[in-house]
Amino acid sequence: MQVVSSVLLDTVKDKNMYMTLDKTILITGGAGFIGSHVVKRFVTQYSNYHIINLDKLTYCGDLENVKEVAHSENYTFIKGDICDTNFLKNVFEEYTPNSVIHLAAESHVDNSIDNPNIFIQTNVMGTCNLLNMVNKYGVERLYHVSTDEVYGALGMDDAPFIETTPYDPKSPYSASKAASDHFVSAFGNQFTINYGLMLWLH
Ligand SMILES: NC(=O)c1ccc[n+]([C@@H]2O[C@H](COP(=O)([O-])OP(=O)(O)OC[C@H]3O[C@@H](n4cnc5c(N)ncnc54)[C@H](O)[C@@H]3O)[C@@H](O)[C@H]2O)c1
Repeated sequence: MQVVSSVLLDTVKDKNMYMTLDKTILITGGAGFIGSHVVKRFVTQYSNYHIINLDKLTYCGDLENVKEVAHSENYTFIKGDICDTNFLKNVFEEYTPNSVIHLAAESHVDNSIDNPNIFIQTNVMGTCNLLNMVNKYGVERLYHVSTDEVYGALGMDDAPFIETTPYDPKSPYSASKAASDHFVSAFGNQFTINYGLMLWLH
């Protein structure tokens, strides 16, 4: 394994083995609450795919969440920060992922009120860094995970949000996710990136 700037741990067993697999799927934030379920599902369901879990392991990330697949032959964990462009560049050059599923984020609304800047850094800048890599390295498909909170808040008698509901974020967290969504669709239009935007509900 090539040493890349902030990579601490790479659990790859045999590089020759994963090069024989059909596709490489890079999942960011795969040690978190939702991402860990995505990682486990992909590793077990797609044994012909190399699944890379890229996570900074902030206070929200825990490798215990993915311990069931830690020793799987088609699984690699890389510790690193999506805000670190040199690190990301090295990961994309080393592994040339076919697809990216982007879940890494600062995700707690209360923290975003105390410290909005880290949300801008991770959710907006980190996503833009990833978009630059997706564009530069010709990734076939990007799935960007966002939140229904970009639409604002519903009162008891309000109609449910639908995909065409105008964005109306109410917290620094949802504003940062809304900004990241706009960058994804703008990059998609500008550079013909094939992307899916998923606005998950609570
Ligand atoms: N949990 C929900 O109810 C919910 C609802 C809708 C949408 N979402 C979205 O789903 C995604 C995942 O949410 P979650 O609840 O699993 O979040 P989480 O906070 O549990 O996990 C986020 C993961 O991202 C990692 N991470 C944070 N900053 C990073 C960085 N700079 N570089 C690399 N990794 C970093 C963390 O270590 C953690 O493992 C987020 O994009 C979130 O906005 C979550």
